[in-house]
Amino acid sequence: MLVIYVKKRMEISFIAMLLFAPLMLSFAAPYIASQSVENTMQLAATNTITRGPLIESTTNESTTIYWETTESAPSTVNYGKNTSMLEVMTNSTSDTVHSVKLTGLDLDAKYFYEVESGDAQSEMYYFFTAPADGGKFRMVILGDNRPSSSTAPEQPEVFSEIIDLSIGEDPHLVIMTGDFVYGVTESHSQNLVAWEKFTNITDRINHYAPIIGVIGNHDTGASTGSRLLEYYFDAFLNFGHSTTYFTFTYAGADFFILDSEEFGLEGRITGEQYEWLEEALSSSQSPLKIVSAHRPLYSISHIGSALDVNITERDRLQNLFEDENVTFFTAGHDHSYNRIVVNGVTHIITGGAGAPLYNTPWGGAYNHYISSNFSYSEIDYSVIKPSGVVSEHQKIPSEGPIEIFLRGFANTSRKENGTIPEIYFSEVPVTKYFSWDGNDNQTELTGLPDVEGNHTLDVYAENEEGQWGHVRYLFEAYIRDTTGFLPPDDTADGGMSWITNIAIASIVAGAAVAVVIVFLLRRRGKI
Ligand SMILES: [Fe+2]
Repeated sequence: MLVIYVKKRMEISFIAMLLFAPLMLSFAAPYIASQSVENTMQLAATNTITRGPLIESTTNESTTIYWETTESAPSTVNYGKNTSMLEVMTNSTSDTVHSVKLTGLDLDAKYFYEVESGDAQSEMYYFFTAPADGGKFRMVILGDNRPSSSTAPEQPEVFSEIIDLSIGEDPHLVIMTGDFVYGVTESHSQNLVAWEKFTNITDRINHYAPIIGVIGNHDTGASTGSRLLEYYFDAFLNFGHSTTYFTFTYAGADFFILDSEEFGLEGRITGEQYEWLEEALSSSQSPLKIVSAHRPLYSISHIGSALDVNITERDRLQNLFEDENVTFFTAGHDHSYNRIVVNGVTHIITGGAGAPLYNTPWGGAYNHYISSNFSYSEIDYSVIKPSGVVSEHQKIPSEGPIEIFLRGFANTSRKENGTIPEIYFSEVPVTKYFSWDGNDNQTELTGLPDVEGNHTLDVYAENEEGQWGHVRYLFEAYIRDTTGFLPPDDTADGGMSWITNIAIASIVAGAAVAVVIVFLLRRRGKI
């Protein structure tokens, strides 16, 4: 009986399934259909790399590679010492922002790589690992690429050319000394456009080498009344740092990146930043210390508004560099190339990557980048024009007599009597002499003589090897007249100009006339 009952139940169930199947299918169909559309869409979806891959930071045994994608996906880097790239590093966590660290690499080696996220795959690029501490590494330095107008965010064409030439240098590192965009405004969309035009160019070299971005006065948004730094931080990976001043080490060389644009402290390295720098430099054991800021200490076109806004602080910074054996300081801000060596510290201005050039009495107003080799024993660098012509080549340490430099105002400048030229020596002289107009040598430099007209200044400096350096300068002196007004001054940094004096004289004369008129009117009882 039980068997018959079970059989009957199965028959009834089967019949019921046949009867209700169409109904069940009609309910389930939309769900099945939507699932199948979704699967089809997933298959059709194409992940895209929207930024990168970029080399974030490199040591002598590792590198970190960064990229961004439209869709969330795992991160894979294929890499190797030849283009077959047999090594694979995968991070299985899905994300749209990818950062993969490759470790166990050989030092001073070239590695090819490509990245993958889902079905997105990059082109093949390469990077170099750092040499052993003290070994020679290549560095490109360039600065002041910014557009010339706020209404045209396009980057200068010459900047793009310089980046392409720089890729050909196969640099281990790239330093950019600031002023990347024309300005950061209150318009977020405008800022995004301006910075994207910048990173579209810099990312081309960032595929191959880490870039260090030194913040410039055009990059901070200070004109809006507060600092808008998100664009700067998005543009530069800066060895993983998200502050505007920081330090990092590469091949045993210690780098100190400064912010000369702190809000309200523009043109000054002071307060907490100075204390931080003092501590960081004194705790560095490296024989190769490299410092960079946007504004130079010894400007040639922003005299008085570079890091010499406060001369006492500028000199304190230079003294710190000397005390802590800083070898090399690089800046931008002046749109030109310039070199000065002060007591063993080489100062380079490289501001020729595309912004409108500045003519100065010191020359250097041409587009360029710097291709350099650094090691514990030697630094050598070439200043290269977009044509490929090397305009200057220098080695540190240099050989031969002490070099003598004039700053503040230029050779042949017209200045008031008593004005003291700024003279600097490439190293501290054992003996130094100054002579005005061929007269007796003096050990201390005095100001322009009290005689109107041309004067020569001879400067002599002896080094420890007994070699003498000598330079003769020519200046024109003028003397303040009895009214206290200054005649015209042909230098940019001069005191009050004659135009200013005329304006003041006009105001004084006008006020005097007004007093006389009021006096006369009162006497006549008119007021
Ligand atoms: Fe600047």
